[in-house]
Amino acid sequence: MPSSHDLFAAYAEFIPDFTAFCAALQTAPTCCLRVNTLRTTPAVVQAMLRQQGYHVTPSPLTDELLLVDNLTHPGTLQAALLGYYYPQAFTSALAALALAPQAGEMICDLCAAPGSKTSHMAQLMRDQGLIVANDRHGKRLSMLEHNVKRLGISNIVTTRYPGQNFPLRHKFHRVLVDTPCSGEGNYRWDAQGRLQHYRRASGDLPRLQRQLLLRGFDLLTERGTLLYATCTYNPSENEAVVQTLLEQRSATLEPIQLDVPHDSGLQRWKDQTYDRRMAFCWRLYPHHANSVGFFLARIRA
Ligand SMILES: C[S@@+](CC[C@H](N)C(=O)[O-])C[C@H]1O[C@@H](n2cnc3c(N)ncnc32)[C@H](O)[C@@H]1O
Repeated sequence: MPSSHDLFAAYAEFIPDFTAFCAALQTAPTCCLRVNTLRTTPAVVQAMLRQQGYHVTPSPLTDELLLVDNLTHPGTLQAALLGYYYPQAFTSALAALALAPQAGEMICDLCAAPGSKTSHMAQLMRDQGLIVANDRHGKRLSMLEHNVKRLGISNIVTTRYPGQNFPLRHKFHRVLVDTPCSGEGNYRWDAQGRLQHYRRASGDLPRLQRQLLLRGFDLLTERGTLLYATCTYNPSENEAVVQTLLEQRSATLEPIQLDVPHDSGLQRWKDQTYDRRMAFCWRLYPHHANSVGFFLARIRA
């Protein structure tokens, strides 16, 4: 089996402290639970977990994200089944926080299933306004619908378009484009040295990602906000995709106003150079955030 070092050798030139990065891939990320504030409070969930013997620490970012030691199957506890929390990687939860949807707004989530970020947005919007949760795959949309019901959310409708052809009839205040990607950020080993997640077959992912991002942008109202997210380190799926948008539309990259350790987007990769504003993008690495790898870009129309 290839080592982490071999698998990511091509990225050693831009991942800071590459040895620590490879070491982090050999450890499990701390379990993170997002408290569903539509049903309960962080204090109630903390008390329930502590009663069961778990060590719980609120994340320094927000007490709605709880970090729990040694909780390996968070979806099976009663509190999860009651919809009191949603297990979600810490870095994944940053996407909705960075997009910051407001109560009463019109939101489009172009690649929404199984609904981690959609349900987080609904919670941030206090279940007011409307989220159109789109996903191309019906089975995955059913998972989203199940999650939405369990979490007690009522401001979501689902659609099943290929996101790149999502109808342009309506405009949205905010759009989330959490694209299908090679999933490198989830690539980790468990305690027995077994590989838990593989790099997914990529096909022509950057092409699809560019199409999805362009369509997401075209769905924005004037001055609307878009968040582009992937869980991969690959610059061809991240900066290169955002670069196409900057070249083809009058889009602006914005800083992400959250206090979380991260690296900036790349200015160059191999023979490619990227727009200087790429510095506003976030690269999240497992050895910085003790979570899974993510890329975030906040974009304004
Ligand atoms: C990274 S996952 C989304 C995860 C989701 N945002 C969440 O937080 O739970 C990417 C999703 O894109 C969907 N997908 C793949 N191709 C698509 C397309 N052309 N249009 C819309 N959705 C697509 C997949 O079914 C998958 O559910």
